[in-house]
Amino acid sequence: MKSVSPICAETAPGPCSIVIFGASGDLAARKLIPALFRLFERDLMPESFLVLGCARSAMSDEEFRSRMRGALSSAGISVPKKLSDLFFSNVKYVSGDYSDKATYARIEQELSAFEKSSAVSGRLFYLSIPPSVFEQVLQMLGENGLVQEDYDGIPWRRVVIEKPFGRDSSSAADLERHLSSTLKERQIYRIDHYLGKDTVQNILMMRFANTVFEPVWNNRYIDSVQISVAESIGVEHRAGYFDKTGLLRDMFQNHILQLLSLVAMEPPSSFESERIRDEKAKLLNSLRPFPADPSELSRLIIRGQYSSGSVNGKLFPAYRDEPGVPKDSITETYVAGKFHIDNWRWNGVHFHMRSGKRLSRRISEVAIRFKQIPHSIFGFFGAGEIARNELILRIQPDEGFSLKINAKKPGSKFCMGEVDMDFKYRDLGAPVAEAYERLLLDTMQGDSTLFIRKDCIQLSWAFLDPVLKAWEDRGNLSSNKLYFYPACSDGPEESRTIFGSETSSWRDL
Ligand code: BG6
Repeated sequence: MKSVSPICAETAPGPCSIVIFGASGDLAARKLIPALFRLFERDLMPESFLVLGCARSAMSDEEFRSRMRGALSSAGISVPKKLSDLFFSNVKYVSGDYSDKATYARIEQELSAFEKSSAVSGRLFYLSIPPSVFEQVLQMLGENGLVQEDYDGIPWRRVVIEKPFGRDSSSAADLERHLSSTLKERQIYRIDHYLGKDTVQNILMMRFANTVFEPVWNNRYIDSVQISVAESIGVEHRAGYFDKTGLLRDMFQNHILQLLSLVAMEPPSSFESERIRDEKAKLLNSLRPFPADPSELSRLIIRGQYSSGSVNGKLFPAYRDEPGVPKDSITETYVAGKFHIDNWRWNGVHFHMRSGKRLSRRISEVAIRFKQIPHSIFGFFGAGEIARNELILRIQPDEGFSLKINAKKPGSKFCMGEVDMDFKYRDLGAPVAEAYERLLLDTMQGDSTLFIRKDCIQLSWAFLDPVLKAWEDRGNLSSNKLYFYPACSDGPEESRTIFGSETSSWRDL
C-alpha cells in the first residue's frame, strides 16, 4: 500500500519536573527512563526539565544515573555520549521511606530549586509503586503540599497511576475516594499502556478518518469480532503480584475492555478527550451483564491455567511449578469469553475475547469477521462456500492491518480465492513509537484522551464482578472449571468447543 505524507503535529511541552516514585523498580528501568530519553532524542522533552527518581534504596545521583544508563542499553537504545550526558545532567535521585515526612521535604527542596529557573513549571508525579503503599504516598503528597495547584490548574500538578485500579468494584470505589480526597479529576492520569500503542490509536483513525468502514460497522454486515491478546511469556518473576491478581484482572479489566470500547463505541463528536471517554463509557454501559448463576456463566466465559509443555525439545514448567506460585493455585492464566453489546448497532453480534500467558506465540489483534454474501451468482459456488471478508487489525507484532477479500484468480472462469490487502507499519520507514513515549508526552501536555476516566474503571469492574465472585469461590470449581492447557499451545481445547461455531471459530494464533 502507498502512503501519503502524514500530518504529524508534535510540540515539546513547557518546563516541568517528573518525579518517579518506585524509581529503583522494573518499570522505571524498562519503560519510563527509556521513553523519556527517546522523547529527549526527538526534541520532545521540555527545554528545561528535571527527572527526579525516588525510592527506598539508598543511592547517590551518580549511582542512579549509571543504573539508568545501563537500562537504556538493555532497552537496545544506542546512546551517543554527548546526548546522554546532556539528558542525565537533568536526572537526580532522592532516597527515603515513603512514610517519612523528610522524604517529601527533600523532594520539595529539589523541585523548588529547579523551579527557581522557570517561572511556571509543572510537576508530574509518576506512582510506579505497589498498591500497598499507594494510598500512603498519595496522602503524603497531599499533606506536604506537593500536588497543590495554585489557581485553576496553573502551575499544573499531575499524578500518573498504574493499574491495578482496585480488585473489584468496591475496592476501586475506595481507591477513587482516596484519589479524590487529594486530587481533582483533571489531575489524575490513569494509565493503560495499550492506549499508547499507535496501532490501538489507529482503531479510531481507521473507523473515523475513512468513509468505507463505518457504513458496514454494524450487525447488518459484521458477524463477529474476535479480540486476542496472547503472550508467549509465562508469569516470569511476577508470581507475587500475578497469583493474587489473575488474568481477568490483569488483562481484561483494562486492556481488553479498552480495545473493545474503541472497536465498538459510537462515533464521538470530536477527538476531544471527554467526548471520546463519554462514548467509551456508553459502550461499557451497554455490555450485557454476566449471569450470577455459575453454570450459566461458564457458557459465556472460561478460565484456564498452563500446565507444562515443550517446544523444540525445550521444556516449560507448569504455572504451579513457577517460583513463588502455590502448588494448588487456581489463578487463571487464560480467559476466553463471549460478550454481547445490547444496543442497535451490535445486537446479535458475538464479541469473542481471549487472552493468556504462555501461549504458542505473542500476538495481539482484532479480527472483524463480516457476514457471508446474501446470494451467490458464481455457478456452483453457494453463498456459504465463498469466504467471508475479514479485517485484521494487528496490534503487535508485525503492526499493521489487512483486509481479506475474494478475487478472481488466474485460471478457469470461476477460479476465485482470498487475497490480502495488507499494510505494515514497518513499510512507512519510521519505527512505531513505544507506548510510554506517547503517554508521558501527553501527561506533560495535559492531554488525557488516552487515559482512563473514573467512570470507565467503575463500569468495567461492575461488568466483571460476577465472574470474579464465581471464580473466587473454590466450591464452584465443578461448574466453573479451571481448564489446563499445555505451555506453548493455543490455550485450552474447551475454548474452541465452547465458543467455536461454523462462523466464529477462533483464528489460529
Ligand atoms: C501488563 C500486564 O499490563 O501488560 C502484563 O500486567 C502483560 O501481565 C503486559 O504481560 C502485556 O503488555 P504488552 O505491551 O507486552 O502486550
